[in-house]
Amino acid sequence: MTTVPKFGQWIVALAVIVSLLLFYTGYDKKTQALDFGKTIQVISFQDLSFSLKELNKVAALAGIGLLAITFLMGPLSRMFPKKFARFLVWRKFLGLFGFGLIALHVLYSVIFIYNLSLDQMIFNNPKLEGILAGVIAFVIFMLMALTSTQKSVEKMGYANWKKLQTTGYIALFLSAIHFVILETKPEIGLDVRPFGKLFLALAIIALMVRIGLIFVQIQQRTQFGEHVGELKQDSLKNKKTN
Ligand code: HEM
Repeated sequence: MTTVPKFGQWIVALAVIVSLLLFYTGYDKKTQALDFGKTIQVISFQDLSFSLKELNKVAALAGIGLLAITFLMGPLSRMFPKKFARFLVWRKFLGLFGFGLIALHVLYSVIFIYNLSLDQMIFNNPKLEGILAGVIAFVIFMLMALTSTQKSVEKMGYANWKKLQTTGYIALFLSAIHFVILETKPEIGLDVRPFGKLFLALAIIALMVRIGLIFVQIQQRTQFGEHVGELKQDSLKNKKTN
């Protein structure tokens, strides 16, 4: 198996963010065309609150997109190990990067959209189901991020750790529900710019591929290292030195 360079993980993460800045923030809803002047407006911070509002959406979309990619890597590398197993070494980084972006999105939303008010966020929120879905998803992703080390796996035991990882798919499902509820307007339906919809599609594809895996008999992973591509790399190194 050929290995992939570690810096590739940075390229993927940055490519996701840059593509969103260009094709999501650069999309003019009125003319339904790209206008990169809008991207310049966002990244120049001429209007601070507009830039932060747009960057919050970019963080949310890039976060769900990167998390969906890391969830896709598992089933794909099991179904097509020759093609995809090499990318598992990027999985932990991309997962943590995606979670970091979601944490920024939550921080911004709680402070600037809900003004740190439980009343606005929960008790008087017409989109309560959507927010609850987001909160539960965030807690699950946080637990996954906090236990993404070999030490945590040893403490929890592999079986419990694996259960938590599988719960991640429920969190991804809840994130997609959260996305749809918060961005749906009664008069127009799902009100998301076309490039943003691609990120919802990524989450749905990751969930469908995982469901598809239930019907395919494929060998289960049994150790933490296999989830993050370390064992494959190590065994390659050992083979080279032997
Ligand atoms: C405490 C948890 C969360 C809160 C309070 C929250 C809050 C919000 C709010 C207020 C919006 C609407 C923003 C706007 O229209 O300007 C939103 C949208 C969104 N959220 Fe969350 N969120 C949470 C968790 C999550 C999680 C866990 C994910 C995904 C992993 C996520 C992904 C998204 C996405 C993709 C959008 C749509 C962005 C767009 O296209 O405009 N959120 N969220």
